[in-house]
Amino acid sequence: MTILVTGGAGYIGSHTCIELINGGFDIVVVDNLCNSFKESILRVEKITGATIPFYELDIQNNKGLKKIFESHDIKAVLHFAGLKSVSESVSNPDKYHSNNVVGSENLFQVMSKFKCKNIIFSSSATVYGIPKYVPIDERSPLDAINPYGETKLMVENILCNLYANDKTWNIAMLRYFNPVGAHDSGLIGEDPNGTPNNLMPLIMRTASGKDPKIKIYGDDYETEDGSGVRDYIHVVDLAKAHVKALRFILEEESRILVVNLGTGHGVSVLKLINIFQSVSGKLVPFEIAERREGDVAISYANPTLANKILDWRAEKSLEKMCEDAWRWQCMNPNGYQEN
Ligand code: NAD
Ligand code: UD1
Repeated sequence: MTILVTGGAGYIGSHTCIELINGGFDIVVVDNLCNSFKESILRVEKITGATIPFYELDIQNNKGLKKIFESHDIKAVLHFAGLKSVSESVSNPDKYHSNNVVGSENLFQVMSKFKCKNIIFSSSATVYGIPKYVPIDERSPLDAINPYGETKLMVENILCNLYANDKTWNIAMLRYFNPVGAHDSGLIGEDPNGTPNNLMPLIMRTASGKDPKIKIYGDDYETEDGSGVRDYIHVVDLAKAHVKALRFILEEESRILVVNLGTGHGVSVLKLINIFQSVSGKLVPFEIAERREGDVAISYANPTLANKILDWRAEKSLEKMCEDAWRWQCMNPNGYQEN
Protein backbone atom coordinates (compact mmCIF):
# COMPACT_ATOMS: atom_id res chain seq x y z
CA MET A 1 0.00 0.00 0.00
CA THR A 2 1.49 3.34 -1.07
CA ILE A 3 1.49 6.40 1.18
CA LEU A 4 2.42 9.90 0.02
CA VAL A 5 4.50 11.81 2.56
CA THR A 6 4.58 15.57 1.99
CA GLY A 7 7.49 17.25 3.75
CA GLY A 8 9.08 13.83 4.13
CA ALA A 9 12.62 15.20 3.94
CA GLY A 10 12.03 17.32 7.04
CA TYR A 11 12.63 16.55 10.70
CA ILE A 12 9.42 14.76 11.72
CA GLY A 13 8.64 13.54 8.19
CA SER A 14 11.96 11.72 7.75
CA HIS A 15 11.58 9.91 11.09
CA THR A 16 8.04 8.93 10.14
CA CYS A 17 9.22 7.61 6.75
CA ILE A 18 11.35 5.07 8.66
CA GLU A 19 8.43 3.92 10.81
CA LEU A 20 6.15 3.66 7.77
CA ILE A 21 8.68 1.51 5.92
CA ASN A 22 9.25 -0.60 9.04
CA GLY A 23 5.48 -0.96 9.24
CA GLY A 24 5.35 -2.46 5.74
CA PHE A 25 4.13 0.58 3.78
CA ASP A 26 5.55 1.77 0.45
CA ILE A 27 6.17 5.48 0.47
CA VAL A 28 6.53 8.33 -2.01
CA VAL A 29 7.96 11.62 -0.78
CA VAL A 30 7.26 15.11 -2.06
CA ASP A 31 9.26 18.00 -0.62
CA ASN A 32 10.48 21.29 -2.11
CA LEU A 33 13.54 21.18 0.20
CA CYS A 34 12.90 24.74 1.41
CA ASN A 35 13.86 23.65 4.94
CA SER A 36 15.59 20.30 4.38
CA PHE A 37 18.08 18.34 2.29
CA LYS A 38 17.69 15.41 -0.07
CA GLU A 39 20.43 13.78 2.01
CA SER A 40 17.86 13.01 4.71
CA ILE A 41 15.98 10.77 2.27
CA LEU A 42 19.22 9.05 1.26
CA ARG A 43 19.87 8.37 4.95
CA VAL A 44 16.37 6.96 5.43
CA GLU A 45 17.11 4.66 2.49
CA LYS A 46 20.36 3.65 4.15
CA ILE A 47 18.66 2.90 7.49
CA THR A 48 15.76 0.97 5.99
CA GLY A 49 17.23 -0.54 2.83
CA ALA A 50 14.21 0.77 0.91
CA THR A 51 14.22 2.82 -2.30
CA ILE A 52 12.07 5.91 -1.95
CA PRO A 53 10.58 7.67 -4.96
CA PHE A 54 11.31 11.35 -4.27
CA TYR A 55 9.80 14.41 -5.98
CA GLU A 56 11.32 17.84 -5.41
CA LEU A 57 8.11 19.81 -5.74
CA ASP A 58 6.09 22.52 -4.03
CA ILE A 59 2.69 21.31 -2.86
CA GLN A 60 1.26 24.49 -4.41
CA ASN A 61 2.13 23.02 -7.83
CA ASN A 62 -1.20 21.54 -8.93
CA LYS A 63 0.01 19.94 -12.16
CA GLY A 64 3.06 18.45 -10.46
CA LEU A 65 0.97 16.89 -7.70
CA LYS A 66 -1.47 15.44 -10.24
CA LYS A 67 1.41 13.78 -12.07
CA ILE A 68 2.51 12.11 -8.83
CA PHE A 69 -1.01 10.81 -8.22
CA GLU A 70 -1.13 9.56 -11.82
CA SER A 71 2.17 7.71 -11.39
CA HIS A 72 1.41 6.07 -8.03
CA ASP A 73 -1.68 4.44 -6.57
CA ILE A 74 -1.73 6.53 -3.42
CA LYS A 75 -3.96 5.28 -0.66
CA ALA A 76 -3.30 7.96 1.98
CA VAL A 77 -1.33 11.13 2.57
CA LEU A 78 0.74 12.11 5.59
CA HIS A 79 0.91 15.88 5.29
CA PHE A 80 3.96 17.37 7.04
CA ALA A 81 4.87 20.00 4.42
CA GLY A 82 4.67 23.44 5.96
CA LEU A 83 6.67 26.35 7.28
CA LYS A 84 7.00 26.39 11.08
CA SER A 85 8.85 29.44 12.33
CA VAL A 86 6.67 31.60 14.55
CA SER A 87 8.96 34.64 14.22
CA GLU A 88 9.14 34.39 10.42
CA SER A 89 5.35 34.05 10.27
CA VAL A 90 5.02 37.33 12.17
CA SER A 91 7.31 39.17 9.72
CA ASN A 92 5.89 37.46 6.61
CA PRO A 93 2.31 36.28 7.24
CA ASP A 94 1.43 36.12 3.53
CA LYS A 95 4.21 33.64 2.87
CA TYR A 96 2.81 31.44 5.64
CA HIS A 97 -0.72 31.71 4.33
CA SER A 98 0.27 30.77 0.75
CA ASN A 99 2.59 27.98 1.73
CA ASN A 100 0.65 26.38 4.56
CA VAL A 101 -2.98 27.14 3.72
CA VAL A 102 -3.10 27.52 -0.08
CA GLY A 103 -0.61 24.65 -0.43
CA SER A 104 -2.78 22.39 1.72
CA GLU A 105 -5.95 23.35 -0.16
CA ASN A 106 -4.23 22.45 -3.40
CA LEU A 107 -3.18 19.09 -2.00
CA PHE A 108 -6.72 18.32 -0.76
CA GLN A 109 -8.17 19.26 -4.14
CA VAL A 110 -5.82 16.89 -5.98
CA MET A 111 -6.51 14.15 -3.43
CA SER A 112 -10.24 14.59 -4.00
CA LYS A 113 -9.82 14.38 -7.75
CA PHE A 114 -7.97 11.09 -7.40
CA LYS A 115 -10.45 9.81 -4.78
CA CYS A 116 -7.71 9.51 -2.20
CA LYS A 117 -9.48 10.70 0.94
CA ASN A 118 -7.32 9.44 3.78
CA ILE A 119 -5.17 12.11 5.36
CA ILE A 120 -3.11 12.76 8.45
CA PHE A 121 -2.32 16.41 9.07
CA SER A 122 0.51 17.81 11.20
CA SER A 123 -1.17 20.28 13.50
CA SER A 124 0.34 21.77 16.60
CA ALA A 125 -0.30 22.52 20.25
CA THR A 126 0.08 26.12 19.14
CA VAL A 127 -3.67 26.00 18.23
CA TYR A 128 -4.45 26.18 21.96
CA GLY A 129 -2.87 29.64 22.18
CA ILE A 130 -2.53 30.54 25.84
CA PRO A 131 -3.85 27.35 27.47
CA LYS A 132 -6.87 27.87 29.70
CA TYR A 133 -5.85 24.85 31.79
CA VAL A 134 -3.26 22.09 31.90
CA PRO A 135 -2.96 19.31 31.03
CA ILE A 136 -4.46 20.40 27.71
CA ASP A 137 -7.08 18.08 26.27
CA GLU A 138 -8.57 18.24 22.78
CA ARG A 139 -11.66 20.10 24.03
CA SER A 140 -9.56 22.98 25.29
CA PRO A 141 -10.51 26.31 23.62
CA LEU A 142 -8.61 27.14 20.42
CA ASP A 143 -6.91 30.44 19.75
CA ALA A 144 -4.24 31.52 17.31
CA ILE A 145 -1.77 33.97 18.81
CA ASN A 146 0.51 34.26 15.76
CA PRO A 147 0.18 33.82 11.97
CA TYR A 148 1.79 30.37 12.10
CA GLY A 149 -0.87 29.25 14.56
CA GLU A 150 -3.55 30.81 12.34
CA THR A 151 -2.43 28.68 9.41
CA LYS A 152 -2.72 25.53 11.51
CA LEU A 153 -6.22 26.47 12.68
CA MET A 154 -7.26 27.37 9.14
CA VAL A 155 -6.13 24.02 7.75
CA GLU A 156 -7.90 22.20 10.58
CA ASN A 157 -11.08 24.12 9.68
CA ILE A 158 -10.70 23.33 5.99
CA LEU A 159 -10.43 19.65 6.85
CA CYS A 160 -13.51 19.86 9.10
CA ASN A 161 -15.45 21.45 6.23
CA LEU A 162 -14.26 18.82 3.76
CA TYR A 163 -15.53 16.14 6.10
CA ALA A 164 -18.81 17.92 6.78
CA ASN A 165 -19.50 18.02 3.04
CA ASP A 166 -18.19 14.59 2.11
CA LYS A 167 -18.25 11.77 4.63
CA THR A 168 -16.00 9.58 2.52
CA TRP A 169 -12.99 11.43 3.98
CA ASN A 170 -10.98 9.86 6.78
CA ILE A 171 -9.01 12.51 8.57
CA ALA A 172 -6.66 12.63 11.55
CA MET A 173 -5.38 15.97 12.79
CA LEU A 174 -2.46 15.41 15.14
CA ARG A 175 -1.55 18.21 17.51
CA TYR A 176 2.11 17.81 18.42
CA PHE A 177 3.60 19.24 21.59
CA ASN A 178 7.42 19.73 21.57
CA PRO A 179 9.22 17.15 19.39
CA VAL A 180 12.91 16.64 20.21
CA GLY A 181 15.55 13.92 19.86
CA ALA A 182 16.65 11.95 16.83
CA HIS A 183 16.79 8.45 15.38
CA ASP A 184 19.17 6.35 17.44
CA SER A 185 21.32 5.52 14.42
CA GLY A 186 22.54 9.13 14.60
CA LEU A 187 21.97 9.35 10.85
CA ILE A 188 18.90 11.58 10.84
CA GLY A 189 17.85 14.39 13.13
CA GLU A 190 16.80 18.01 13.32
CA ASP A 191 18.74 20.35 11.03
CA PRO A 192 17.01 23.72 11.15
CA ASN A 193 17.79 26.35 8.53
CA GLY A 194 19.74 29.34 9.83
CA THR A 195 19.79 30.13 13.54
CA PRO A 196 17.24 28.04 15.43
CA ASN A 197 14.71 29.47 17.88
CA ASN A 198 13.72 26.25 19.61
CA LEU A 199 15.27 25.09 22.83
CA MET A 200 16.81 21.70 21.98
CA PRO A 201 18.65 22.84 18.80
CA LEU A 202 19.98 25.78 20.82
CA ILE A 203 21.18 23.45 23.60
CA MET A 204 23.02 21.48 20.88
CA ARG A 205 24.68 24.62 19.53
CA THR A 206 25.80 25.67 23.00
CA ALA A 207 27.02 22.23 24.07
CA SER A 208 29.05 21.93 20.88
CA GLY A 209 30.64 25.35 21.37
CA LYS A 210 28.94 27.11 18.43
CA ASP A 211 27.18 29.48 20.86
CA PRO A 212 28.87 30.64 24.06
CA LYS A 213 25.71 30.35 26.14
CA ILE A 214 21.98 29.90 25.98
CA LYS A 215 19.45 32.44 27.15
CA ILE A 216 16.74 31.16 29.43
CA TYR A 217 13.66 33.21 28.69
CA GLY A 218 12.37 34.01 32.14
CA ASP A 219 12.96 32.56 35.60
CA ASP A 220 9.93 34.18 37.19
CA TYR A 221 7.10 32.04 35.84
CA GLU A 222 4.88 30.29 38.33
CA THR A 223 6.59 26.95 37.80
CA GLU A 224 8.74 24.70 40.01
CA ASP A 225 11.96 26.63 39.23
CA GLY A 226 10.59 29.72 37.49
CA SER A 227 11.50 28.64 33.93
CA GLY A 228 8.95 27.72 31.25
CA VAL A 229 7.42 24.24 31.21
CA ARG A 230 6.78 22.19 28.05
CA ASP A 231 5.89 18.66 27.01
CA TYR A 232 8.97 17.34 25.18
CA ILE A 233 8.30 14.23 23.13
CA HIS A 234 10.81 11.99 21.37
CA VAL A 235 10.44 12.35 17.60
CA VAL A 236 10.49 8.55 17.16
CA ASP A 237 7.55 8.19 19.57
CA LEU A 238 5.79 10.86 17.53
CA ALA A 239 6.62 9.07 14.27
CA LYS A 240 5.20 5.81 15.65
CA ALA A 241 1.96 7.59 16.55
CA HIS A 242 1.55 8.46 12.85
CA VAL A 243 1.67 4.82 11.85
CA LYS A 244 -0.95 4.00 14.48
CA ALA A 245 -3.14 6.90 13.31
CA LEU A 246 -2.74 5.77 9.71
CA ARG A 247 -3.79 2.21 10.47
CA PHE A 248 -6.68 3.60 12.48
CA ILE A 249 -8.10 5.77 9.69
CA LEU A 250 -7.51 3.10 7.06
CA GLU A 251 -9.71 0.74 9.05
CA GLU A 252 -12.49 3.29 9.32
CA GLU A 253 -15.19 4.00 6.74
CA SER A 254 -15.53 7.60 7.69
CA ARG A 255 -13.90 9.51 10.47
CA ILE A 256 -12.48 12.81 11.57
CA LEU A 257 -10.18 12.68 14.53
CA VAL A 258 -8.22 15.26 16.45
CA VAL A 259 -5.58 13.99 18.84
CA ASN A 260 -2.91 15.48 21.08
CA LEU A 261 0.52 13.90 20.85
CA GLY A 262 2.57 14.53 23.96
CA THR A 263 3.89 12.61 26.93
CA GLY A 264 1.55 14.22 29.43
CA HIS A 265 4.50 15.50 31.50
CA GLY A 266 5.63 19.09 31.84
CA VAL A 267 9.39 19.71 32.04
CA SER A 268 11.08 23.02 32.81
CA VAL A 269 13.86 24.58 30.72
CA LEU A 270 16.31 24.28 33.62
CA LYS A 271 15.43 20.64 34.18
CA LEU A 272 15.93 19.79 30.50
CA ILE A 273 19.32 21.52 30.50
CA ASN A 274 20.34 19.62 33.65
CA ILE A 275 19.34 16.28 32.20
CA PHE A 276 21.18 17.07 28.98
CA GLN A 277 24.32 17.97 30.93
CA SER A 278 24.29 14.74 32.90
CA VAL A 279 23.61 12.58 29.84
CA SER A 280 26.20 14.23 27.57
CA GLY A 281 28.82 15.19 30.15
CA LYS A 282 28.86 18.61 28.45
CA LEU A 283 28.37 21.93 30.16
CA VAL A 284 25.63 24.20 28.81
CA PRO A 285 26.38 27.70 30.05
CA PHE A 286 23.26 29.84 30.36
CA GLU A 287 22.06 33.25 31.42
CA ILE A 288 18.64 34.34 32.55
CA ALA A 289 17.02 36.71 30.06
CA GLU A 290 13.69 38.52 29.75
CA ARG A 291 10.61 36.45 29.00
CA ARG A 292 10.18 35.86 25.24
CA GLU A 293 7.17 37.60 23.77
CA GLY A 294 4.36 35.18 22.99
CA ASP A 295 5.64 32.46 25.33
CA VAL A 296 3.29 30.72 27.72
CA ALA A 297 4.38 29.61 31.19
CA ILE A 298 3.18 26.02 31.09
CA SER A 299 2.02 23.78 28.28
CA TYR A 300 1.64 20.02 28.42
CA ALA A 301 -0.72 17.52 26.94
CA ASN A 302 -3.42 15.31 28.20
CA PRO A 303 -2.68 12.37 25.88
CA THR A 304 -5.52 10.13 27.13
CA LEU A 305 -7.36 10.16 23.82
CA ALA A 306 -4.29 8.99 21.89
CA ASN A 307 -3.75 6.26 24.52
CA LYS A 308 -7.35 5.13 24.18
CA ILE A 309 -8.16 5.49 20.50
CA LEU A 310 -4.77 4.82 18.93
CA ASP A 311 -3.40 2.53 21.64
CA TRP A 312 -0.35 4.75 21.62
CA ARG A 313 1.71 6.29 24.37
CA ALA A 314 5.08 8.01 24.40
CA GLU A 315 7.70 5.61 25.72
CA LYS A 316 11.07 7.30 25.48
CA SER A 317 12.54 9.16 28.45
CA LEU A 318 13.98 12.66 28.61
CA GLU A 319 17.41 11.06 28.99
CA LYS A 320 16.88 9.17 25.72
CA MET A 321 15.71 12.38 23.99
CA CYS A 322 18.89 14.16 25.08
CA GLU A 323 21.16 11.19 24.33
CA ASP A 324 19.81 10.77 20.79
CA ALA A 325 19.83 14.50 20.02
CA TRP A 326 23.45 14.68 21.19
CA ARG A 327 24.51 11.61 19.16
CA TRP A 328 23.00 13.20 16.03
CA GLN A 329 24.84 16.46 16.81
CA CYS A 330 28.19 14.74 17.41
CA MET A 331 27.95 12.59 14.28
CA ASN A 332 26.75 15.52 12.12
CA PRO A 333 28.21 18.73 13.53
CA ASN A 334 26.95 20.63 10.48
CA GLY A 335 23.77 18.71 9.97
CA TYR A 336 23.27 17.25 6.52
CA GLN A 337 25.41 19.86 4.81
CA GLU A 338 28.77 18.19 5.26
CA ASN A 339 27.90 15.40 2.86
P1 NAD B 1 10.56 20.71 8.84
O1 NAD B 1 10.72 22.10 8.36
O2 NAD B 1 11.78 19.96 9.24
O3 NAD B 1 9.77 19.83 7.77
C1 NAD B 1 8.82 20.37 6.91
C2 NAD B 1 9.19 19.94 5.49
O4 NAD B 1 8.22 20.46 4.58
C3 NAD B 1 10.55 20.47 5.06
O5 NAD B 1 11.31 19.41 4.53
C4 NAD B 1 10.23 21.50 3.98
O6 NAD B 1 11.23 21.57 2.99
C5 NAD B 1 8.90 20.99 3.46
N1 NAD B 1 8.01 21.99 2.88
C6 NAD B 1 7.62 23.16 3.43
N2 NAD B 1 6.78 23.81 2.60
C7 NAD B 1 6.64 23.02 1.50
C8 NAD B 1 5.90 23.14 0.29
N3 NAD B 1 5.15 24.22 0.03
N4 NAD B 1 5.97 22.14 -0.61
C9 NAD B 1 6.73 21.04 -0.37
N5 NAD B 1 7.45 20.89 0.74
C10 NAD B 1 7.41 21.87 1.67
O7 NAD B 1 9.51 20.74 10.05
P2 NAD B 1 9.08 19.60 11.03
O8 NAD B 1 9.54 19.97 12.38
O9 NAD B 1 9.42 18.28 10.48
O10 NAD B 1 7.49 19.82 11.01
C11 NAD B 1 6.64 19.06 10.18
C12 NAD B 1 5.22 19.57 10.35
O11 NAD B 1 4.86 19.48 11.72
C13 NAD B 1 5.03 21.04 9.97
O12 NAD B 1 3.80 21.17 9.34
C14 NAD B 1 5.04 21.76 11.30
O13 NAD B 1 4.30 22.95 11.26
C15 NAD B 1 4.39 20.73 12.20
N6 NAD B 1 4.78 20.89 13.61
C16 NAD B 1 6.09 20.89 13.96
C17 NAD B 1 6.45 21.05 15.30
C18 NAD B 1 7.89 21.09 15.72
O14 NAD B 1 8.18 21.54 16.81
N7 NAD B 1 8.83 20.63 14.91
C19 NAD B 1 5.46 21.21 16.28
C20 NAD B 1 4.12 21.18 15.87
C21 NAD B 1 3.78 21.01 14.53
C1 UD1 C 1 7.63 27.26 19.82
C2 UD1 C 1 6.57 28.11 19.20
C3 UD1 C 1 5.37 27.24 18.89
C4 UD1 C 1 5.76 26.10 17.96
C5 UD1 C 1 6.90 25.32 18.61
C6 UD1 C 1 7.42 24.24 17.73
C7 UD1 C 1 6.93 30.38 20.03
C8 UD1 C 1 6.40 31.44 20.92
N1 UD1 C 1 6.25 29.21 20.08
O1 UD1 C 1 7.06 26.64 20.96
O2 UD1 C 1 4.34 27.99 18.28
O3 UD1 C 1 4.67 25.23 17.72
O4 UD1 C 1 7.98 26.21 18.93
O5 UD1 C 1 8.11 24.76 16.63
O6 UD1 C 1 7.88 30.57 19.30
N2 UD1 C 1 13.50 28.75 25.57
C9 UD1 C 1 14.52 29.37 26.26
N3 UD1 C 1 15.60 29.81 25.54
C10 UD1 C 1 15.69 29.66 24.19
C11 UD1 C 1 14.64 29.01 23.50
C12 UD1 C 1 13.55 28.57 24.23
O7 UD1 C 1 14.48 29.54 27.47
O8 UD1 C 1 16.70 30.09 23.61
C13 UD1 C 1 12.34 28.25 26.34
C14 UD1 C 1 11.03 28.87 25.95
O9 UD1 C 1 10.78 30.04 26.66
C15 UD1 C 1 10.06 27.72 26.30
C16 UD1 C 1 10.89 26.46 26.06
O10 UD1 C 1 12.25 26.88 26.08
O11 UD1 C 1 9.74 27.78 27.66
C17 UD1 C 1 10.60 25.79 24.73
O12 UD1 C 1 10.75 26.73 23.69
P1 UD1 C 1 10.65 26.31 22.15
O13 UD1 C 1 11.53 25.14 21.90
O14 UD1 C 1 10.90 27.54 21.33
O15 UD1 C 1 9.17 25.80 21.98
P2 UD1 C 1 7.78 26.53 22.32
O16 UD1 C 1 7.98 27.88 22.85
O17 UD1 C 1 6.97 25.60 23.14
